Amino acid sequence: MQPVNIGVIGLGNVGSGTLDILAENADQIALKLGFPLRVAAVCSRGVVHKQIPAALGAPLRTADWREVVDHPDIQIVAELIGGTTVAREIIEAAAAKGKSVVTANKELMAASGADLWDQAIASGINLAMEASVAGGIPIHTVLREGISGDRVTNFYGILNGTCNYILTEIERRGAGFEEVLQEAQAAGYAEADPTADVDGFDARSKLVILSALAFGERIFPADVYTEGIRRISPIDFGYAHILNHTIRLVCMARQTPEGLLLSVRPSLIPQSTILAGVRGAYNAIWVRGRYGADTFYYGRGAGAHPTGVAVVSDLMRVAREIRSGSPERVSPFAHARLGEYCPIPITLNRAAYYLRFRVKDRPGIIAQLAAALAAENISIEAVLQLPEENASNLPFVITVEPTTEASIRAALARMEKLDFLTEPPLAMPMEASL
Ligand SMILES: NC(=O)c1ccc[n+]([C@@H]2O[C@H](COP(=O)([O-])OP(=O)(O)OC[C@H]3O[C@@H](n4cnc5c(N)ncnc54)[C@H](OP(=O)(O)O)[C@@H]3O)[C@@H](O)[C@H]2O)c1
Repeated sequence: MQPVNIGVIGLGNVGSGTLDILAENADQIALKLGFPLRVAAVCSRGVVHKQIPAALGAPLRTADWREVVDHPDIQIVAELIGGTTVAREIIEAAAAKGKSVVTANKELMAASGADLWDQAIASGINLAMEASVAGGIPIHTVLREGISGDRVTNFYGILNGTCNYILTEIERRGAGFEEVLQEAQAAGYAEADPTADVDGFDARSKLVILSALAFGERIFPADVYTEGIRRISPIDFGYAHILNHTIRLVCMARQTPEGLLLSVRPSLIPQSTILAGVRGAYNAIWVRGRYGADTFYYGRGAGAHPTGVAVVSDLMRVAREIRSGSPERVSPFAHARLGEYCPIPITLNRAAYYLRFRVKDRPGIIAQLAAALAAENISIEAVLQLPEENASNLPFVITVEPTTEASIRAALARMEKLDFLTEPPLAMPMEASL
């Protein structure tokens, strides 16, 4: 059988993992498809230094992505370079040439997925992006096909493996954030510039894409309240455990009577919930549908081979279409807002909250904090204090009964004026609906 020819642009983690699988698993892939996939060209800036698996034969090697897109034999382009500039040019150029695209690019798809999908549909090509969220977990296929007949009401995800690794190491060993981050960087779990991961932006891109898929809605990064994990310390896990909870960077999309709440933030989740068992660099997504109730998806969220599986599976899906005809396409991003799913501000979130303070110890502190809470009609659930030597920087925790984020913020604003605080209070929601 004639092969379907592909060009791979980007030979880093994901690109090299993709080539390994295409080389080592070629016979199974051909058996499943009924025809082989052939790598006709590979591209990266430093292509001369890259090891290309010998089993792939002698594909064109180039540092110029245009040579791949323009190559007359190439039917599918895999964009695996990342970023939002050149990657976008590659996808647009491929679409203009009538070539389908497979991408792993969450940042670009979150920012411009709706426009790129419009272009893809106008050009009659496919744009596959399974690898862009949760690496080895086929969550796109689940939402677009597997449970697409359901009406998703909410989902919760652990979508950043670096943050989950850091949090679970702080939990396991009681080490501080900076120490664990440095170890994660040395071990290759975290980037030299960790901002996108630890400040929540990477997870936000993934939440945007999954929300579009789950709700058929056009969601923008600005719709998502985003907070990172830099302030989480071992003491927070100590208090969370007393409360039978743990702490994870939770990506939440929850339908409420007012609209759709979207957030990426460290949150307390009950230890009994399945998400609390997600440790290390793993990812998970827990989806609730109106008809199908709960489903849960778990696996490696990143890495050359798990992400490579997602890319190769997309290449196979697109190649099948090329051979047997394309179905009519509907953009996962470009639906008109349905109203019930319209994003709403996080200030409308209603939850119990965990408030952690550090103070210069002196009499009357609790009374003043309680007054600030009472002024916003917030009821205290519990006051917790673990033994601590340092009276000049004493941590303790107040948990409050369910209230709105707006009320919590107003109470925190009142507390800012109190001179015994050694740092601003840390507030985290306690996710009871998990
Ligand atoms: N890493 C993961 O586990 C993972 C998981 C899911 C999704 N993703 C996504 O997958 C994409 C790739 O990530 P990665 O981790 O594989 O990145 P990476 O290791 O940094 O690799 C990027 C590759 O792109 C090449 N490249 C960059 N700019 C180029 C240009 N202008 N022309 C030609 N080649 C260029 C680089 O070439 P040189 O090396 O020759 O300079 C390198 O081979 C990103 O969108 C990322 O968000 C990654």
